[in-house]
Amino acid sequence: MLNSCLKINAKRLIIYNDMNNEPEIISEIDKILEDAERLLNSSENVNELDDRFRNFTGKKGKITGILHNIHLYSAEEKKIIGSKSNEAKNRIENIYNGKKKELSNIEYGKSSTGRGIDLTIPGSYMEGPHKHPITAVLEEASDFFSSMGFEIVEGPEIETTHYNFDALNIPADHPARDVWDTFYLLNGLVPRTHTSSVQARTLEKKQLPLRVIAPGRCYRYEAVDATHLFMFNQMEGLFVDKNVRLTDLKGILEETVKNLLGARKTRFRPAFYPFVEPGLDLDIECVFCGGRGCGICKNTGWIEVIPCGMVHPNVFKYAGIDPQEYRGFAFGMGFDRIVMLKYNINDLRLLYQGNIDILKQF
Ligand code: PHE
Repeated sequence: MLNSCLKINAKRLIIYNDMNNEPEIISEIDKILEDAERLLNSSENVNELDDRFRNFTGKKGKITGILHNIHLYSAEEKKIIGSKSNEAKNRIENIYNGKKKELSNIEYGKSSTGRGIDLTIPGSYMEGPHKHPITAVLEEASDFFSSMGFEIVEGPEIETTHYNFDALNIPADHPARDVWDTFYLLNGLVPRTHTSSVQARTLEKKQLPLRVIAPGRCYRYEAVDATHLFMFNQMEGLFVDKNVRLTDLKGILEETVKNLLGARKTRFRPAFYPFVEPGLDLDIECVFCGGRGCGICKNTGWIEVIPCGMVHPNVFKYAGIDPQEYRGFAFGMGFDRIVMLKYNINDLRLLYQGNIDILKQF
């Protein structure tokens, strides 16, 4: 080097840079760093980058070589050379890491679509929402009745005994009241035992003629098993006009079970409900065995689905309606039952447990 002078050291010859009195090796380190920066940054792929990086900081790398020979210098020089080399080493490592990231991203992009998205990685599956079977069938039934001119009405779940019983021709001292295993609240109200209470409330408004359905929850003092719960859903129906007949009831309800359950054969049996006269039960041919008899229909070949009947004159009278002028029919489907039949569910409790594995099957 032109501007250098020679200084004799006991152990070896060091070339000092004239200008700032630093060992020349320092500028050598600067030069190495410059080379490293240029070479690493111009590497075209990760392999090349790794090779070049190794030439600087690997076992036989240039910086490593300098550190290896550091014992040849005086204590004061060791300090300067050591810290300069370490600084350079860190800097080279930083450049290497940055470049490596950049090259890996490019290579990752090339290996897939060139846009950095790897279409071969399995996607994450998002399960879409779906309706609870009860809601789904409720909506289906509501649409069906709406198409026949029925309106949807609601009533309170906590009811007075007047609307739950008296107004439905079930007086307090009458043994028929025992049929509805009732929870009595301390304040004298009852969680309604059926949606028929909504019949009484609707009639009282006297907006005649009327066609309504009233879906909702009901409560009974039942021991819970596969076919009984203390809480269940019913859908009440009421059709009142001046000349409604039993044949209207038959026609509409037969159409309902055909539409909702795909029922083929139906039959009506006489039954007693204090608020209808005559009272009937609509049965459908067992959808499971086709009428041959099975465990589900208790070997009768029939399944009871809709209790119904012509509105009892007393019910009209309680509501202040003249039974000579108006007639009507009413029905009360056990709604959970319809859902069970429709989806072939053999345990009512499954509908209310909120078990996703079960519910997502429908
Ligand atoms: N409310 C009756 C019950 O819960 C069912 C029913 C409704 C029967 C309407 C006839 C008419 O058992």
